[in-house]
Amino acid sequence: MSDTKRSLSQRLRRLVAKIYAGVLVLVLCWTGFMAVRYLIAIVTQPLTVPPALLQTNPKLDVASLRGPQAPRLPGLQARAPISHFHKGRDWRPFEPHNGCTAEGCHSPLPHSQAMKLPTFANFHVTALDCRACHTKATAQPTPMVWINKATSAPQGIPAILALTAFLSTQAQAAREAPAEHQGKLLGLLKAVLDTHSFDPVMVDLYRLLQTVEPGSPVWRSTLDALAQELSSNIYGEYAARLAPAALAEGLADDNEALLKQAADYRDAPTGSAARKEIIKAVHEGVLAQPPGCASCHIDKPGAVDFEAVGFTPQRSAMLHNLRLAELMEQIRKGEKFYLPQLLGTE
Ligand code: HEC
Ligand code: HEC
Repeated sequence: MSDTKRSLSQRLRRLVAKIYAGVLVLVLCWTGFMAVRYLIAIVTQPLTVPPALLQTNPKLDVASLRGPQAPRLPGLQARAPISHFHKGRDWRPFEPHNGCTAEGCHSPLPHSQAMKLPTFANFHVTALDCRACHTKATAQPTPMVWINKATSAPQGIPAILALTAFLSTQAQAAREAPAEHQGKLLGLLKAVLDTHSFDPVMVDLYRLLQTVEPGSPVWRSTLDALAQELSSNIYGEYAARLAPAALAEGLADDNEALLKQAADYRDAPTGSAARKEIIKAVHEGVLAQPPGCASCHIDKPGAVDFEAVGFTPQRSAMLHNLRLAELMEQIRKGEKFYLPQLLGTE
């Protein structure tokens, strides 16, 4: 009896082991099959678009996109040209009033391969109005003013440039007489924070400078940290653009007129004489071939007085003597050029 019992329990145990082994073999075969099938499938089968994406059925014709019901991105702004080339930290708005680009006549990054140095000309459009280059200079240097990107109206030196200039030229004086400079410093920093959206670091530095004793060790180190932080935020985006002073007052009206002309152009039939007339009128006074890079970066006195428009003396000196611009100029003219010697002995 006990023998039968034992053999029964032995058989049962063996059965469990066999089932277990069987399941294991099945799992292994299934996993192996799926892995091989996946490898073959990714090579041989075409990728398909997920059906959810195909079912949205968007209307992409001009009439629907321009209509009042057209879906728009609320609040979001397009990334600015500069972050096309470098990873920007924040969103950088295109100039919504620029009559050359707002209606899509020219792209916000207007320079194509045709001009040989499109990247270099394009990154300037965050800091220079099209007319800064595409208008005949009346004087050397040409008096320039900053135009507010949001309003198209002339404004003073951008807050971020003013703060940078303060930190670069008056930091020592501020350290020697902190109480006297504290008000100016906080005012400049507040103006910067009001104009730009920064990551929270800048806001924290502002709060720190506001709360600690001016001149204390913490205040001093915060000043250093601010200069450091600012240097990684500054270039290219000033919420304003440089334009020749002679055009500045009328720029908002000019842009308004350009938008109207763009609408008239769209309404006129393709290839019509009316369209040709409009194109001619729009480009009256526009320099098709602006002077090259050297006109601002090498020539003396040069087309722009960088210090007068708010750049620090060091940066102005650098911008006024930019060997890179000379090199680019040579490339543009198709001349022979030599890479500058960056390493090695004098
Ligand atoms: C830094 C100076 C500079 C600024 C700012 C600038 N341009 Fe230009 N642009 C040039 C130069 C230089 C050329 C080349 C002309 C040539 O071929 O000799 C050019 C050429 C062009 C061309 C024809 C070449 C092509 O690639 O099709 C167009 C169109 C143009 N610019 C539009 C604009 C518009 C619109 C703006 C403002 C959003 C602008 N530019 C701002 C310097 C500038
Ligand atoms: C109308 C004057 C003007 C012309 C023409 C011009 N630039 Fe500039 N350039 C500027 C200004 C203003 C800045 C500073 C922009 C800023 O701070 O974002 C600048 C900045 C630069 C810088 C960045 C320097 C740095 O390290 O910060 C480079 C590089 C440069 N330009 C190259 C060129 C080249 C190449 C050309 C010719 C295609 C050119 N520039 C034509 C005015 C000009």
